[in-house]
Amino acid sequence: MHSSPSHGTDLLPATVAWLGARPGRVRLLEQTLLPLETRFLELETVPQMVDAIRRLAVRGAPAIGVAAGYGALLGVQHMVRASTAELVQRLVEDCRTLVAARPTAVNLFWALERMESAGKAAHARGLDAAAALDTLFAEAEAIHREDADQCRRMGELGAPYVPDGVAVLTHCNAGALATGGMGTALAPIYVAHSQGKRVSVYADETRPLLQGARLTAWELSQAGVPVTLITDNMAARVMSEGRVGAVFVGSDRIAANGDVCNKIGTFGVAVLARHHNLPFYVVAPTSTFDPTVPTGAEIPIEEREPEEVTEGFGRRTAPTGVRVYNPAFDVTPAELVTAIITEAGVIERPDRTRVLELLSRARHRALAAG
Ligand code: MRU
Repeated sequence: MHSSPSHGTDLLPATVAWLGARPGRVRLLEQTLLPLETRFLELETVPQMVDAIRRLAVRGAPAIGVAAGYGALLGVQHMVRASTAELVQRLVEDCRTLVAARPTAVNLFWALERMESAGKAAHARGLDAAAALDTLFAEAEAIHREDADQCRRMGELGAPYVPDGVAVLTHCNAGALATGGMGTALAPIYVAHSQGKRVSVYADETRPLLQGARLTAWELSQAGVPVTLITDNMAARVMSEGRVGAVFVGSDRIAANGDVCNKIGTFGVAVLARHHNLPFYVVAPTSTFDPTVPTGAEIPIEEREPEEVTEGFGRRTAPTGVRVYNPAFDVTPAELVTAIITEAGVIERPDRTRVLELLSRARHRALAAG
């Protein structure tokens, strides 16, 4: 379901896809095996989707939202002959199960809320179960299609910020693999590259799960964008040598005041960027904003298994029994963010007023568009 033009990302396998008519299956690119193996999962149940999200087979905030939208369909798609009330009750239960898969990326909650509201609205309109399923399917597809469109729009709006002839640095993976389209942070890079700018990327490897090394380095190479891999602790050196002209990252949740939650290590990169006088850009769709959290301090940060740190990818690299702290995300204060690039516009020097202004403008535009 990638929309075109894809700026090189058409060479990548789709991260999430619905297979078949209905009842159907969700096909996910199994991201834990990349870059060594390109394998797909075909999911038929809600528990399978929860497991895939937890294991990071599908990951990245927008992709989790798209997958969860289809995931909510999996549990109810056979209930054509049930009453709509029964169908909606099951949908609500499934959404509750899916929502607990991971705690930080707000797109998960946002997509499931959309699915739940679509089900309840169908019930309120007196639709039978078959017609309610049609609207649910349309909603899941809309979440996917809108995400792809928003990625492209962020790419267009962000491309002018991509420097010509000097590299940018990125952290984690905020590309096509993390979305239903061409990516968030990588979208401006793909667009600028397709426009003929001399674009190249330093990718932080992103300990402990190496999304930068396994995923970003892979997808940029596949798409033909020059990429150089560094370990996380090399970013300061690379910046001090004048090798990068800007930083582009994605986000898992943005608070009302513009604080940005993203993959662990992002905050450190933002501090380094400020020290070196480099612009620090966050690229995220409006679905990644959570105006119900006033500041980044209220965003729940996922803590993951110690083994990701002590024996990531199979080989033990720490003493047995050592205490480990493994937060998967951190919060970059808004004051370190040069601009947030969204599909609805760019928020320069983000603060509460500017964030809420943009969100309200985006809401009015969406309502006017029907
Ligand atoms: O734990 P992950 O791999 O799901 O974390 C992903 C990130 O932190 C991305 O940078 C973020 O979701 C932005 S994705 C477009």
